[in-house]
Amino acid sequence: MTKAAPASREGFSSRFGVLAATLGSAVGLGNIWKFPSLTGENGGAGFLLIYLLATLLIGLPVMMAEITLGRRAKANPITALQQLAPRPGLPWWLIGVSGMLAAFLILAFYSQVVAWVFAYVVKAAGGGLLSSDPRVTEAAFAALVGDPWQSLIWQWIVLVLIGGILTLGVTRGIEAITKKLMPLLFLLLLLVCGFSLSLDKAAEGLAFLFKPDFTRIDAAVILTAMGLAFFKLSIGMGTMMTYGSYFRDDQNIPATALRVMVADLSVSLLAGIAIFPAVFTFGFEPSVGPSLVFITIPAVFSQIPMGHALMVVFFILTSIAAIGAMLSLMEVPVAILHERLGWSRRRATAITLILLLIAGASCALSGSVLVDFRILGLTMFDLFDRVSSMVLLPVGGIMIALFVGWSWGRDKLQDELSNRGGLANRRLSALLFLLLRYVSPVLILLVMLQGLDLI
Ligand code: TRP
Repeated sequence: MTKAAPASREGFSSRFGVLAATLGSAVGLGNIWKFPSLTGENGGAGFLLIYLLATLLIGLPVMMAEITLGRRAKANPITALQQLAPRPGLPWWLIGVSGMLAAFLILAFYSQVVAWVFAYVVKAAGGGLLSSDPRVTEAAFAALVGDPWQSLIWQWIVLVLIGGILTLGVTRGIEAITKKLMPLLFLLLLLVCGFSLSLDKAAEGLAFLFKPDFTRIDAAVILTAMGLAFFKLSIGMGTMMTYGSYFRDDQNIPATALRVMVADLSVSLLAGIAIFPAVFTFGFEPSVGPSLVFITIPAVFSQIPMGHALMVVFFILTSIAAIGAMLSLMEVPVAILHERLGWSRRRATAITLILLLIAGASCALSGSVLVDFRILGLTMFDLFDRVSSMVLLPVGGIMIALFVGWSWGRDKLQDELSNRGGLANRRLSALLFLLLRYVSPVLILLVMLQGLDLI
């Protein structure tokens, strides 16, 4: 192998490694930050149910399709689609280009949220967050968001750290660490859930999360739920295609996708169970949005024995979960620039990093100096978040489904999904093919157009 050859083409080493890496991409701030705040904003259990449906009907099929395409082509998304397209000249590779754009938009705001989490590790250690008074924890968060330098510097730390890890190519190191620490995050979440469930108004919190009330559901809420399903499973922009290209040939793709989905959902539900009882007990507002985790989690920890230390551990583990997700996001532009332009991995990472420092700053400053700089009434932070989840990921999902359903074809899908005949899953691939050909594209398009108020 030459020096310029992508280390990534070596692929993941063991079947468990594949599972851990894929789960590492799926689990992240989406579970701990996005899921609770969106569920809170959109009325609780009704939203959860629609999110579940979107995950099963749309998310899982698109995820399997993406991984399958990636493994077949063993290349970055642009090259993969060029290779797999039955006739050269058909512009399916544009999916890869739009994926790269989506990666930048997502990373710009995602890195800012990770920046808050990093800052919270330090603040929690200093003891400044130990209070169950909503006014105190809300003020602590507002002070952080409103401080341009703190926001920027923490974001730079995050971005340089991620870039550094990718440049050094120690993805294996990270994999090894996440493999050990993800179970720890799971355990700690269980522990917080235990304490949260012992709070006075735990029942109210659980009812909010699990008792559907459909009065809040409208087209925009359905689109939000679908966008969350895409975001959670890291689909619609080439991340799963890129990871699929590192999959082993003997990996059972449907089983892996299913496991990742179930584990990911469990982490989200645990985060919900940890947060909503506290919301109702301490008098927080479930619909505050992105600040929810940052104001409720400190309130829960301030009530429990050893809460101070546990809060620090909680934010450290959240950072680790987020790092796995960010690496997978950044891997998309890095793999594309590296393989397409022949740049070294180091150079591809450096350029990606510079672009991200610029795009990210507009999000870092969204809570302070740029608070009045708005497009469509949204700050850059909110704009990037919405445009990626509500437009780019769904459009990517439609295109991937259409590609498999109408261009690539059933035989190749069946061949690859069954590990070239090694697995007996013909029925499953036939069903998947039908879903991708007829159901997913129409459903995604309808939800998107309705949700954006275009039809
Ligand atoms: N799924 C991750 C989370 O929930 C975020 C993420 C990683 C992602 N890669 C992605 C989202 C690709 C969309 C597309 O935190």
